[in-house]
This record gives sequence, C-alpha cells and structure tokens, in this order.
Amino acid sequence: MKKTLLITGGAGFIGSHVVRLFVTKYPDYKIVNLDALTYAGNLENLKDIQDAPNYIFEKADITDEATINSIFAKYNFDGVIHLAAESHVDRSIIDPNAFIRTNVMGTANLLNAARTIWKDNMEGKRFYHVSTDEVYGSLGEEGFFLETTPYDPQSPYSASKAASDHFVRAYGNTYHMPFVITNCSNNYGPNHFPEKLIPLFINNIRNNKPLPVYGDGKYTRDWLYVVDHARAIDMVFHGGRNGETYNIGGFNEWQNIELVKLMCREMDKRLGRQEGESEKLISYIKDRPGHDRRYAIDATKINKELGWYPSVTFEEGLRITIDWYMANEEWLNHVTSGDYKKYYENQYTHR
Ligand code: NAD
Ligand code: TYD
Repeated sequence: MKKTLLITGGAGFIGSHVVRLFVTKYPDYKIVNLDALTYAGNLENLKDIQDAPNYIFEKADITDEATINSIFAKYNFDGVIHLAAESHVDRSIIDPNAFIRTNVMGTANLLNAARTIWKDNMEGKRFYHVSTDEVYGSLGEEGFFLETTPYDPQSPYSASKAASDHFVRAYGNTYHMPFVITNCSNNYGPNHFPEKLIPLFINNIRNNKPLPVYGDGKYTRDWLYVVDHARAIDMVFHGGRNGETYNIGGFNEWQNIELVKLMCREMDKRLGRQEGESEKLISYIKDRPGHDRRYAIDATKINKELGWYPSVTFEEGLRITIDWYMANEEWLNHVTSGDYKKYYENQYTHR
C-alpha cells in the first residue's frame, strides 16, 4: 500500500537507522525525513540511501510552527514517526529550556499539524511517538519498568520527554488522534554521537584520553542494539494497537564500570595494546547531578503481542559498533571538530 510518512529526527542516531529501514524495506512508501540538523544531526549518516527515489529530506525545525504546518499541508502525511529531540541528559542539565522547546513545544506543533490535516478522517492514520524508559525514573536493585509503571522523571531531559508523552496521550483522548508510544532503553551502535557513554569512550580509548566515569561507576543501564530498536519501531508502527504503549529493552543490564572494562578489553585487541592498557585510562570524576541509579525494561508486552525480541547479542553488537568506529575515523573527526570541543571542555574540565 502506498503511504507518505514523516520521520522526524531522521539525521540523528536512531532516526537514521529507522529512515534506512523504512526506505529500503518499503519502496512503495514515500519517506520524508524532517530534521533541523542540530549538532546531533548529520546527513552523512544517510549517504547510502540519500538518492533513493522514495526518500526526501526537509531541513526544518519542529519548534517553527508555521513551517511545520506548511510541510504537513504539502505532503498530507498518512503517518508520523517522531524521533526529533534534544536527547542528552548532561546537556539538559546545562540548558533545560532547549529541551522544553524542542521536546515539548516541538511535539505539540507536530500534534497540532497532524490534527489539522487528519481532522476529517483519522482512519488509518497514526502518530508514533518515540520515547524513553527514563520517564519512569530510577530503579533500585530489584524490579523492572512496565508499561504501567507510574511516570517519575528525574532529569530535565526525562521530564521533557514525559511531558511530550502526556501530550500525545491527551491528544489521543481529547481529539481521537490515533497514536502509539514506545519507551525504549539505552541504544548503542554505529552513528551514535560521541557525547553518550559508549561512543565517547570508544573515541577516548582510541585517542588515549581519560575515560570520565561518573560517581562510583555502579550505575546500571539496559543496552539495546540500535537496529533492533528500528526493527521494533517498524513492528509497532505496523502492528501495534492504537492508544497503546510498548516498552522496548535489551534484556541486557550492565553496570557502567563493567561495561567500560569490557570496552577497554575489546579496544586493546583492536589497537594491538597489551591487555589492561586501556583500563589505565579510567578516571572516576564528580557524579552527574540527580543521576538515575538503574534502568531496566520488562519488554514482555512487545514480545508477546508482536513477537519482537533483540536479534543481536550484546557481544556481537558491541563488536560491530567498535568495528564501525574504527573504520569511520573521518565521521568521528568530523563530528568532534568545532562545537564539540567547547562542549567537551565545559563538561569534563575541572570536574
Ligand atoms: P540524537 O540526538 O542522536 O538525534 C536527534 C535528531 O533530532 C538529530 O538529527 C537532530 O538534528 C534532530 N533535532 C533536534 N532538535 C530538532 C528540532 N528542534 N527540529 C528538528 N529536528 C531536531 O537522538 P537519538 O539518540 O537518535 O534519539 C532519537 C529519539 O529516541 C529521541 O526522541 C530520544 O528521546 C529517543 N530515545 C533515545 C534513546 C537513546 O538511547 N539514544 C533511547 C530511547 C529513546
Ligand atoms: P548516557 O550515555 O549519557 O545515557 P543516559 O544517561 O541517558 O542513560 O550515560 C549512560 C551512563 O553512563 C549513565 O549512567 C551516565 C554514565 N556516564 C559516565 O559515567 N560518564 C560519561 O562521560 C557519560 C557521558 C556517561
């Protein structure tokens, strides 16, 4: 069936994998990638599909209401998959308003624009909002996040994502907007901007730079390979029930320090260093304010309803990821030039 879909944030980390999957798997769909190309957006991520006949790029900012309305009028989308966001917790601590603008106001603009073009017939339409497990807050040593876990966001980032989730549900309830929301755990993989733990540490190990571990390093995250997230988005977009939430996770919890040691061992092998060499770069630094102790997802619902399960083991995914960064030095050098240097100094010097 022919469809015109809007994917927002398609030049970012997860968005680029979602755009690639949809453009290649659904030649009958017209895929419009809308992205403001902030520091985190990079069209190099999509070089391999940029000339596909069913792919269109629109450079636009979701906070610009008039432009968003005109893009919706121009394409008359059948569906929206919304990933555009400010996504890094540390940046949200420095500048929360940027997160409120993009994640809350930007999402509201998209909802309003969709409502305008769909108001006479919502049949077959779908607003898919991509969210995070961080909206549920922080776990102790036991337990998992379920779809029914009450929201308890703790950082400006997660508060802004929680607010946007609430708006999507409110539009579903008030205006009968057909929607689905997924809340996913931490992703890793190729094209991940090197401000987040895994790509930052791969880059620093490569360059023999200190590895800044926050606090005691015993914070726990549930890691999922990004392509498996994109597969889940495809399944939920096509098979998920309207008005439902699905949690997506890797069944793969790691304490930061154990993960960092694993990355060091893998990188030692790649770089021909003696075992234990890269571990010497580990440097414990002042903790992130309000740092969530543990995230872990119970992904039973998406598994039972849609048959989704991660296809890549963590060992395999991490190997592919490290190989990708080692083979894509140019990409890394490009994204770590300019503003990145300023961000890095501000974030890590004197800490
Ligand atoms: P990212 O920071 O790599 O990419 C975000 C993209 O959005 C970039 O291309 C950027 O240019 C674009 N963007 C930012 N502000 C914009 C604006 N105002 N208008 C238009 N485009 C804008 O983020 P990501 O890690 O790929 O995350 C994508 C989505 O998935 C986000 O909504 C995030 O909350 C969610 N999520 C991420 C993770 C994760 O581990 N990275 C986990 C769960 C959910
Ligand atoms: P991050 O990749 O920023 O994802 P999130 O905070 O959204 O889960 O961080 C993952 C974990 O790694 C988190 O517990 C914070 C920690 N961390 C460090 O210890 N040092 C760092 O330099 C960064 C960026 C993160």
